[in-house]
Amino acid sequence: MSQTSVLVVDDIANVREDIKRLLYFEEDIAVVGEASGGHEAILLAEDLKPDVVLMDVNMPDMDGITASEAIANKIPETAVVIISIQGEPEYLRKAMAAGARDYLVKPFSSSELAGAIRRVGKLYKMRATHATTVPPVSITKPEPDAPKNKVIVVFSSKGGVGKTVISCNLAVCMAQESRKKVALVDLNLQSGDVTVMLNLSPKGSIAELVQEEDRMEYSLVNSYMVPHMSGLKVLPAPLHPEQAEVVTAAHVEAILTLLKDHYDYVIVDTSPFFNDLNLSAMEMANDIVLTFTRDLPAMKHTRTALDVLDTLNLSKKVKLLLNQSTLDYGIKISDLEKSLNASPAGILPYDEKIVLSSINKGRPFIMTHINSKTGQAIRNFARQFEPAQSGADPEIKKKKSIIGKFFCF
Ligand SMILES: Nc1ncnc2c1ncn2[C@@H]1O[C@H](COP(=O)(O)OP(=O)(O)O)[C@@H](O)[C@H]1O
Ligand SMILES: [Mg+2]
Repeated sequence: MSQTSVLVVDDIANVREDIKRLLYFEEDIAVVGEASGGHEAILLAEDLKPDVVLMDVNMPDMDGITASEAIANKIPETAVVIISIQGEPEYLRKAMAAGARDYLVKPFSSSELAGAIRRVGKLYKMRATHATTVPPVSITKPEPDAPKNKVIVVFSSKGGVGKTVISCNLAVCMAQESRKKVALVDLNLQSGDVTVMLNLSPKGSIAELVQEEDRMEYSLVNSYMVPHMSGLKVLPAPLHPEQAEVVTAAHVEAILTLLKDHYDYVIVDTSPFFNDLNLSAMEMANDIVLTFTRDLPAMKHTRTALDVLDTLNLSKKVKLLLNQSTLDYGIKISDLEKSLNASPAGILPYDEKIVLSSINKGRPFIMTHINSKTGQAIRNFARQFEPAQSGADPEIKKKKSIIGKFFCF
């Protein structure tokens, strides 16, 4: 069995002993070294190249944050997990920004500790095997020969970050302003709320659709699409969560393939999991809008999601979208960019009044508050999906970009 090697760093010998004791019975985890300070940790990490470093924050010679940053830079194949005590959120934020991959707050159980080590260790091993074949992450660069019709998946492995708000407003923006054919698929099968946010009353859903016939055809798919007043058409999620299980990844692939042939843009709202359905949609996608907010859990989720997508060779499709950007939980945008090693392609401000009332009324804010900052932010973001006008007259392009300030495309 391949073991995950661990270096334990803490200035207190008893704490190091406790950690070793907690890991003693975990056969797949081996403590290969221990250090009592930041300097020693860096030297040992360079020497041992462990899969995981468990790093204390407060140490006299060099603090754990500085040491984590050095290890993240010098030995990128080693993952740092910060061990902190309750009441150190500021340190945690700094540590994550400095390159730590995960954190544990004391006191923790042996299963929590082993779970965190396995999680990051496994991910890093997968990354190492892919490292030679996977091209470097390019987050916002458009593909030069981007096909005309696009599948855009809005994803985050965390709930409540605004995936559905963004999917609905992006889809309506594209439909009403570009006069393009736009479909919105609600893949949050257990608790989809696209039809609520758009005030639609569906008669059927993706669950009934997949049970209708053995062969999926466009006319069948289209018969389940519910029209919205903006021109957008929606494929709803099931009304009852238990219906979700009839939909498979193969269904998702078939449906998206058919829709892509008939719509200019197919937007997909997702559930907050790396499940088969979402992965199937992300494989089909031209763009993955990875949505996140400015808080520590979201930063952690986004980082892990980027790692997973990188491992699956999907990270080149990612466009980062920072939502609720004006809600400041103490994390600077520059720290976020540093931690994620990328800049957001779109930024949406927090606007409780407009966003909440638009949800409650079932009228996307892009329809009712088009000139609000949030509305403008959606329009600017939507514009990025317009295929590059290669070979177009530069003068025409210039005029278009001025017009583009007032319209979505
Ligand atoms: N930009 C924003 N400004 C204010 N509130 C927002 C914004 N984006 C999302 N929200 C709030 O967050 C909640 C969760 O959004 P939702 O789109 O349902 O998240 P997800 O689909 O990721 O679970 C919404 O009900 C809304 O109240
Ligand atoms: Mg949602």
